[in-house]
Amino acid sequence: MNQHLITEIQDGVLRMEISRPEKKNAFNRDLYAALAQALESGLADPAVRVVLLHGQPEIFSAGNDIGEFVSFPPSDPDSPAVRFLRLLADCPKPMIAAVSGAAIGIGTTLLLHFDAIYASDTARFSVPFTHLGLTPEGGSSLLMPLILGYQKAAEMLLFGDAIDAREAYQAGLVNKVLPVEELLPYARDRAANLAARSPWAVAQTKSLLRQSLTNRLGQTMSDEFAVFSRALETPEARAAFAAFFNR
Ligand code: COA
Repeated sequence: MNQHLITEIQDGVLRMEISRPEKKNAFNRDLYAALAQALESGLADPAVRVVLLHGQPEIFSAGNDIGEFVSFPPSDPDSPAVRFLRLLADCPKPMIAAVSGAAIGIGTTLLLHFDAIYASDTARFSVPFTHLGLTPEGGSSLLMPLILGYQKAAEMLLFGDAIDAREAYQAGLVNKVLPVEELLPYARDRAANLAARSPWAVAQTKSLLRQSLTNRLGQTMSDEFAVFSRALETPEARAAFAAFFNR
């Protein structure tokens, strides 16, 4: 396994903790690969009925590792990032996320595939792609307007401003906001509750909820990855990556 991913199966729940706090839980290639591997194993394991993803109280994730945007493009069809995102998009088992602290870029867009999102009152969500000369990924150009409505989604994706937990709740992005110390126990309890129900009924319910999305989502993600690959080549994006490390 990977030193930056902690996994555990308990009460029918595959718990995955992103644990790279020294880099604000930024996703590098190895972390994407470990997440994809853990998810694939969980999907094949009948003992796993629900997936729970979280970070630490201080941070959910600062998004893609900016140092790897050029060396390991996360939009490359063979990349672990694309493999992980496609697994999330197609996951037949319910997925719950517990978000505390910042969720930036893919730290927010991956959440759009989850079935329930619980946030601490310190959570902040942002998709600052245009700040970096980048474009939406992970199906966000389809899912954000669907979940948040066009105006809110367009404002977030164009301006890249962060929204706090309360705004995210009001916009319909998160299901519940809790004090930080209550977040993980609550999310674990919800996950175990769902895991105790008929797996068939739960899977059928999720499948029916998502059936109208599935085809559109696959195509949107392919279109986004193609545009994102071009964005990575632009001088504006290259300058933004350099500026981050020269702060
Ligand atoms: N990619 C690579 N490294 C990252 C990172 C990222 N996305 N986000 C944070 N880090 C690293 C920093 O480079 C720093 O490393 P160092 O200690 O070796 O210098 C470390 O994590 C701590 O980050 P720092 O910026 O010092 O923490 P902070 O508390 O001041 O700010 C953030 C936290 C998350 C607000 C800030 O790190 C940030 O804006 N990160 C980039 C977010 C982003 O634009 N992601 C891409 C979206 S498409």
